Amino acid sequence: MAIGRSSMQSGLFDCMVIAMSAKKRDILVTSGLLYANGPLHLGHMVESIQTDTWVRFQKMRGHNCMYVCAEDAHGTPIMVRAQDEGISPEELIARFDIEHRADFVDFAIGFDNYYTTHSPENRELTELIYRRLRAGGHVTSRVIEQAFDPIKEMFLPDRFIKGECPRCSAPDQYGDACEVCGATYAPTDLKNPVSMLSGAKPIYKESEHYFFKLQNFEPMLRAWIRHGHVQPDVINKLDEWFTQGLREWDISRDAPYFGFEIPDAPGKYFYVWMDAPIGYMASFKNLCSRTGLDFGAYWDKDSSTEIYHFIGKDILYFHTLFWPAMLAGANFRTPSAVFAHGFLTVNGQKMSKSRGTFITARTYLSHLNPEYLRYYYAAKLNSRVEDLDLNLDDFVARVNADLIGKLINIASRCAGFINKRFDGRLSDTLPESALYEQFVSAGEQIAKNYEAREFSRVVREIMILADQANQYINDQAPWVIAKQSGHQAELQGICTQGLNLFRVLVGYLKPVLPLTAEKTEAFLNIKPLDWQTLKTPMTAHTINVFTHLLTRVEQESVDAMLTATRLEQDTMNKDKPATGPLVDEPIAEEVSIDDFKKVDLRLARIVKARPVDGSNKLLALTLDLGGETRHVFAGIKEAYKPEDLEGRMTVMVANLAPRKMRFGVSEGMVLAAGPGGKELWILSPDEGAPPGSRVT
Ligand code: MSP
Ligand code: ZN
Repeated sequence: MAIGRSSMQSGLFDCMVIAMSAKKRDILVTSGLLYANGPLHLGHMVESIQTDTWVRFQKMRGHNCMYVCAEDAHGTPIMVRAQDEGISPEELIARFDIEHRADFVDFAIGFDNYYTTHSPENRELTELIYRRLRAGGHVTSRVIEQAFDPIKEMFLPDRFIKGECPRCSAPDQYGDACEVCGATYAPTDLKNPVSMLSGAKPIYKESEHYFFKLQNFEPMLRAWIRHGHVQPDVINKLDEWFTQGLREWDISRDAPYFGFEIPDAPGKYFYVWMDAPIGYMASFKNLCSRTGLDFGAYWDKDSSTEIYHFIGKDILYFHTLFWPAMLAGANFRTPSAVFAHGFLTVNGQKMSKSRGTFITARTYLSHLNPEYLRYYYAAKLNSRVEDLDLNLDDFVARVNADLIGKLINIASRCAGFINKRFDGRLSDTLPESALYEQFVSAGEQIAKNYEAREFSRVVREIMILADQANQYINDQAPWVIAKQSGHQAELQGICTQGLNLFRVLVGYLKPVLPLTAEKTEAFLNIKPLDWQTLKTPMTAHTINVFTHLLTRVEQESVDAMLTATRLEQDTMNKDKPATGPLVDEPIAEEVSIDDFKKVDLRLARIVKARPVDGSNKLLALTLDLGGETRHVFAGIKEAYKPEDLEGRMTVMVANLAPRKMRFGVSEGMVLAAGPGGKELWILSPDEGAPPGSRVT
């Protein structure tokens, strides 16, 4: 703004600002594209739920907000997996496309377009961007030496080479880093390297590669990150990267490769991470051709629309350095902001196949309502790059206390009277319109927190209001009034008030709980809720019969989900080609001797072993700890015949909290080693060791 404006002009400017903020915004939102070679898990859902909630909020505020995403279809892992399965990459990506879409639909993720990077739009845009970068002098080429599988006749990505760690000599380590000692290195440093594809010793071969000169964009990027396009906690990370220096980025791969061929470079393909972010544009372009939206209005250099990318913290480098640089170099606009979130942990630890916490989206959906997870994630999400823990006990407690105990409770305490005594008719006025107004005015702060992605604050504010609504009903005690004669109008008024407060709360939660909101709209017999309609109460109106809007989370369902996850994992391990045990399960984080001593390991005699009805994995064991008897379920049925176990000695965790399982309570755990299924070996002490002895 120019200096020295007259007061009249600045008054005019103020009006414009107000008009602007009420203006309908044009917003394009993306979340990270999903690799088309594996199932979605609850970590992926953190991102789609966060993004979807934000988009639904923007739509409810009346903005023109579009959410696009896609399958990330290219690259070596997808090509190799398709080969292993004896199908084409196109068939493989089509299969995961169907699976992923179904998961998203069932989690109520409302994409405006879901596409694939293996599309004509993406090929065209990738070529265009590449040509513009090349014309601008931002692409160079040179010959490099790379590992090559002489049997498969292809170059090998670092992750496809294994060998002994150059530092600690641990066997079976990948070509980029050691999972035992944490060393990072080049694949050429590995001792006795082998190709994971053929087992052959890789040879080194020269080939010409193409590079994007990221360093050309250092001044532009340094300025870009200081202008509010990244979160404050990301700036430090970026500063580290600038200090290390920006280097040329290898954007080409040799045939055979599943991807797009580079123009004027036969046999060379774009590296998957080159065309993946362009896949955001391509998915949007595909949406434009279906709906008549203007592609250029969003992506042209002078565009005034907003573009936001929601991503996980692991892919920041690609989104805050390569991507804005590629866009700027190709004369497109850069994103308005990149919003990174942290990683999901389950019960405080990284999701893990061997711990049985690698829960897929589908397994969750087979046992639990998607909105429980949407709510739980929202209750924990903020605008920072923090990891988020799914603590399953807390999950059950929180969802039941908040959603059932507070929210749904309001409706269930009021609806019955309205339905039964007043034929569904609400009163003509609210007895406490001030309370209603207070709920309405809280909406602006809630909206600010949604906008700022402070969802945990949103949830907290809404639950404070829910407490107030419940307090109102407690104070008015409609169930007492209902018993008094001549207080019909009062009863109707209280319940009308309660249902109106409920309606506002469901409206505020609608971005988080779209399915419950929809059911509520049907129950209340109202049009789809948005921020504007909440301002007017619902009076002199007839509602429908109250039905269950949402039921309690049952601990049994959570247990069943975990059991199913473990069983899936066993099956997957059996299908997998044998690899070293350390690769399946890297050595866990260091613990102190005191940590170790917390676990009370005892020798136990297996006095009885029985199959468990309805389970093809579990045996029910009766253990004698030298006087004390324990009942334990052990997932070793495929590995042992029950009769072979009876009388044997083994080792058990004796102080493990009892776990309620579908088949009964398990009072401890028997120690076994191995990948699972038939390959499991229980531990036994030397002969003569007495039951009950503590293992130290
Ligand atoms: N295909 C790339 C992204 C390309 S974007 C142009 C990719 N795919 S992914 O399937 O591995 O991950 C998709 C998104 O999910 C990423 O943003 C990633 O950070 C996020 N998450 C994957 N695992 C996650 C958790 N455990 N927790 C939270 N988010 C996680 O990366
Ligand atoms: Zn090592």
